[in-house]
Amino acid sequence: MQTIRVETPSAKYEVVTGSGLLAELAPRIERVVRRLPRRVFVMTSPEIWALWGKKFLQSFDEAPVALFLPPGEQHKTLKSAERLLREMVRANGDRGSLLIAFGGGIVGDVGGFVAATFMRGINYVQVPTTFLAQVDSSVGGKVGVNLPEGKNLVGNFLQPRAVFADIGVLGTLPDRELHAGLMESVKAGFIRDRSLVRFMEENSEEILQRDPKALERVIAASIRMKADVVRHDERESGLRMILNFGHTVGHALEAATRYKAMLHGEAVGWGMVAALALARRRGTITGSQMERMEKLIYRYGPLPKLKVSAALVMAATGSDKKNVGGVRRFVLPLGIGEAGVVEDVTAAEVEAAVKYMLVRARTEGK
Ligand SMILES: NC(=O)c1ccc[n+]([C@@H]2O[C@H](COP(=O)([O-])OP(=O)(O)OC[C@H]3O[C@@H](n4cnc5c(N)ncnc54)[C@H](O)[C@@H]3O)[C@@H](O)[C@H]2O)c1
Ligand SMILES: [Zn+2]
Repeated sequence: MQTIRVETPSAKYEVVTGSGLLAELAPRIERVVRRLPRRVFVMTSPEIWALWGKKFLQSFDEAPVALFLPPGEQHKTLKSAERLLREMVRANGDRGSLLIAFGGGIVGDVGGFVAATFMRGINYVQVPTTFLAQVDSSVGGKVGVNLPEGKNLVGNFLQPRAVFADIGVLGTLPDRELHAGLMESVKAGFIRDRSLVRFMEENSEEILQRDPKALERVIAASIRMKADVVRHDERESGLRMILNFGHTVGHALEAATRYKAMLHGEAVGWGMVAALALARRRGTITGSQMERMEKLIYRYGPLPKLKVSAALVMAATGSDKKNVGGVRRFVLPLGIGEAGVVEDVTAAEVEAAVKYMLVRARTEGK
């Protein structure tokens, strides 16, 4: 069991990770909020509830009111949020109510958004069930939903009161989801934690076989990295941007394939390859560092083959909402374990990087 403290200007809370947390949720939450309110909600999805609902309920004297969000990005909408908010009103939720978001990143983002808006904001706790949600989306307080025009265009920052990441629930996670989530840990190592990179190089077998101790080490280090960045920059005005390493091209790939061809982490895996190519050309990493970093990305693959043209990916990078005022902002590694933001990347540099990625996808994509 490991506890990581997150401190931002707006909140202080603990992220706990380890095995067996799910069966002890109620007392652990009570330790944070003193006593459970009259109305506790759990937002989850039907399959997660079928797999883990019984264990979730084990520690509660009175069962929380369950709110269901069907799986899939297409349900991360204002319409779903409205339906869930109305269910909460009808179930006599009030300003003192607590919401527990129990699921992957989608449930976490929608759950946090609903908590941030219900009666102008109620307490919420994250109980993430995917690897990605455990190492990334449940920490940091970004909550929101999609619009038909694009992903995550509506939302807010609201930090949870606590995060409980139980490694046991990862036991039912499909392999593909685990591998994709691990890309965010690879990213965490590359941008801010050399020792995590080394650990992931030396223990890939244990990690991929879901050895609980190895997973705990990777999850805790990834959360620690994110917590440290968010502590310095809660609202992404500076340092927090480094978390977008691999994401400019990653988001472009997701958009260019209409969010259907690959998982977010897989797109980020390829996006990191492109960013490494750009960094290599600028000389912020050496050839042997690049080789080592690419090898680690593929070790946690397989990444999917890419059926997009460079032109399509380029067009999609232009619309990346993270490019403020048309400036081609890019996060580049500075060696292994450090990263920085550059603002003057040219279209030609991005194009060369994208082309490198597409060439590599021909041999490394599965
Ligand atoms: N808020 C943030 O800072 C942040 C950061 C990164 C990503 N995100 C968001 O997270 C979302 C992606 O999250 P995700 O990758 O967790 O996907 P997800 O929430 O769609 O979950 C993936 C799939 O795994 C299933 N699942 C979840 N837990 C399971 C378990 N324990 N066993 C078996 N199946 C399980 C889900 O039902 C779903 O089908 C995106 O919407 C993205 O925008 C947010
Ligand atoms: Zn990401």
